Amino acid sequence: MSATHAAEAAPVPARPAPVLAVVVPTYEERANVPVLIGALERVLDGIAWEVVFVDDDSPDATADEVRRLARLDPRVRVLQRIGRRGLASACVEGALATAAPFIAVLDADLQHDERLLPRMLAVLTSDRADLVIGTRYAEGGDVGEWDGARLQGSRAATWLASALLPTGVSDPMSGFFMLRRELLMARVRELSGQGFKILLDLLTVGDAPARVAELPYRFRPRRAGDSKLDASVAWDLALLMLERMLGGFVPARFLAFAIVGGLGVGVHFALLATLLNVGHAGFGVAQAMAAAGAMVGNFALNNVLTFRDRRLRGWRWWRGLASFCLVCSVGAVANVGVAVWLFDRQNAAWALAGLAGIAVGAVWNYAVSGVYTWGGTASRRRRRGRPPAAVRVNVPVPAGNVPPGPHENRFT
Ligand code: GDD
Ligand code: MN
Repeated sequence: MSATHAAEAAPVPARPAPVLAVVVPTYEERANVPVLIGALERVLDGIAWEVVFVDDDSPDATADEVRRLARLDPRVRVLQRIGRRGLASACVEGALATAAPFIAVLDADLQHDERLLPRMLAVLTSDRADLVIGTRYAEGGDVGEWDGARLQGSRAATWLASALLPTGVSDPMSGFFMLRRELLMARVRELSGQGFKILLDLLTVGDAPARVAELPYRFRPRRAGDSKLDASVAWDLALLMLERMLGGFVPARFLAFAIVGGLGVGVHFALLATLLNVGHAGFGVAQAMAAAGAMVGNFALNNVLTFRDRRLRGWRWWRGLASFCLVCSVGAVANVGVAVWLFDRQNAAWALAGLAGIAVGAVWNYAVSGVYTWGGTASRRRRRGRPPAAVRVNVPVPAGNVPPGPHENRFT
């Protein structure tokens, strides 16, 4: 093969492949997108970079704005997810959508100081660490203009998390960090992927310890829009820690479902006591009403806590309630069936038989409601009475064979 042929056979990159990918999770950040891209362009001068926005179908059409800018600059990319929510899973999927060997995670609202990025990259490329965290809690770092409650909450969470972490990481709640692809790939299958806490998740799995470095920065005020971080974040954090403490065998979502179920027992007894003592209802009626109330309560709580990322609203809420009640009724039959079989046929102790029944019912309710009640996304619309979804059109067939293009076999 001549030199010219060899040169032709080698893939010619249209532009340098990115060394650094900046993954930016977005929900309702339309106004911040162009500003962030401008800031990245300034600080990453001389580095082959790309930015991957992972948007969960924001109502303000953030993804469309990213696409508009991506047509002007091919370093800008978008991953739009439909019917999904979640900061942590957005970061993971964005990182998996790029080939760059170094991956940074950065918020869209310019609270994280992007000027740290070149230094973070230098630490990784010089092989001094596998992961670099932007920290607000080390010497030289600052949480900026936070109110007292938020500061106390963040400090408490950080302190709690440090109980789980072997390393002296000062800011495990940080949403701003950069890591080597190898580290991500080694741990990605173990990640819980739920909620906000992607870094804590990354830091608490894996066999071999990762080398972690920190760089301090000052947390800036949000540029435009509102924070999506609310009380449910504390709940997510508690679940993630519980999951890790149980050795990762029980998924966080099931833990949430089980906790809600436990609360349901409380609701049931509160209703039963009230109906009996205040309402003077007959026992059968009171028990039935208490059970129904607990079921509705469990559905509502699971909808906002356990399945928040697939939360049902409007008429879907009512349909979900109906399907949840159906699923739980079958679960109750399974519960009683298993308990009676264990007690009558296997001579199990009553408490053990009862517990086993509860466990079987809970797993059934969890698995089946996960599929039927919270499983579908928006796309299961009925088509009846609407125009067909596809029609065939005829296009002229070009005469002769299509000549092989110069691109063919380039990668073989
Ligand atoms: N794709 C996606 N899906 N993105 C989301 C979602 C979601 O469900 N929720 C929030 N985001 C995006 C936001 O658009 C923003 O770019 C980023 O995630 C952080 O969200 P904020 O709402 O700005 O969070 P915050 O400023 O209150 O919290 C930040 O600081 C915390 C430390 O106190 C985040 O960086 C947290 O991760 C960090 O722990
Ligand atoms: Mn923010």
